[in-house]
Amino acid sequence: MTAKILTNLNHHYQELQDNGADVIQGLTQNSKSLSPKYFYDDLGSELFEKICELPEYYPTRTETWILGQYANEIIETTGCCQLIELGSGSSTKTQFLLDTYQKKAEACKYIPIDVSGGILKNSVQYLRQKYPDFSIHGLLGTYEQALSHLEVNYLQSRMLFFLGSSMGNFSSIECERFLQQVVRTLQPGDYFLLGVDLQKPIDILEAAYNDSQGVTAAFNLNMLSHLNWRFKGNFNTNFFIHQAVYNEADTQIEMYLHCHKNHQVSLDSLDLQVSFQAGESILTEISRKFDLTTIQTDLHNQGLNTIKTWTDPQKWFGLVLCQA
Ligand code: AVJ
Repeated sequence: MTAKILTNLNHHYQELQDNGADVIQGLTQNSKSLSPKYFYDDLGSELFEKICELPEYYPTRTETWILGQYANEIIETTGCCQLIELGSGSSTKTQFLLDTYQKKAEACKYIPIDVSGGILKNSVQYLRQKYPDFSIHGLLGTYEQALSHLEVNYLQSRMLFFLGSSMGNFSSIECERFLQQVVRTLQPGDYFLLGVDLQKPIDILEAAYNDSQGVTAAFNLNMLSHLNWRFKGNFNTNFFIHQAVYNEADTQIEMYLHCHKNHQVSLDSLDLQVSFQAGESILTEISRKFDLTTIQTDLHNQGLNTIKTWTDPQKWFGLVLCQA
C-alpha cells in the first residue's frame, strides 16, 4: 500500500492506493464475486447519488429524516469532537451534523473518507467554503486503508461515523473484523454513529434495488466498465444483466451481474484471464438488513456500548450512537 499526497489540493487531500488482488481472488473462485467498492469510480458515485433520489430507494431519504430530527440530540451527547466519516460520498447527510455543530459555534475537525476521488475532491472544496471555521481534510482510500492510516494518538474526542447502511455490504465475519478495526481507532469514551437499514417486507426491499428507471442496473453494470479502465480489461457489458433478489434466510439483498453469453475476459494489468459461461453470475454486493436489537448485541460484543438509537415512524431505518 502506498500513500501519496496530492499537491493540487494544498495537501488537504490524501490518496491511498489499492492493487486489485481482491479482483483476482474474486474472479478465480467457483462462484465469482467482486467487492462492492468497485462500484465507486466517479461515474459510479454519480449513479449512486441518483439512486439516493429514486422514489423506490427509501434508505437515504429515511436516514436523512432521522438525522434532521435528531442531529441536536446527537451533538448534545457528543459535544465537539473530531468527526471522521467512512464512505462520505457527497457528504450531503453529514451537513445536518456540521450545521448543528456550527450553530453551537464549535470549531470542529472533519475527515471525510471515500474511495472515489472526484466526489471527495468536490465535496471537500465545497465544505471548506461552507464551513470556513472547520478543519477539513479528505482521505482517499478504502475503509481498511483509511482506518489503519488514522493516527491513534489524539487529544480531542472523536466520533467515527458510518452512515447509509454501508455496513450491510459486509458479511457477519467481515463486520466483526471491521468493528474491531473501528474500536482500535477509538479511545475509551469516543463515539461511533452507525446507520443501518432494517428488515421490512420483501416487496419494498426488492423494489429499492430494481428501480423502474434502471439506475441501479446501470450502477451495477458500471462496475465492469470501472474494472475495464482501472485494470485494462475487456468486459463486454452487453453480455451481462442486473439482478437483485432478497435472500430471506440471510436477510440480505444480493446483487448479481448475470452473464448470458460465453465470454473470455482479460484484465491486462492484473495479468488475469477469466472465462464466463452463459448462465453464470458474479455476486457484486450483499446488502444486509438489520435488526436493532441484534446489532446492539454485536456492537456490545466488540466493546461498543449503545447510548441511544433513533428510527423513523415506520421503523425502516435505524441510527445507533455508541461509545467505546
Ligand atoms: C451504499 C451499500 C448502503 O446497499 O443499499 C444501492 C448500495 N446498491 N443500490 C445499499 C446500493 C444498490 C447501498 N449501500
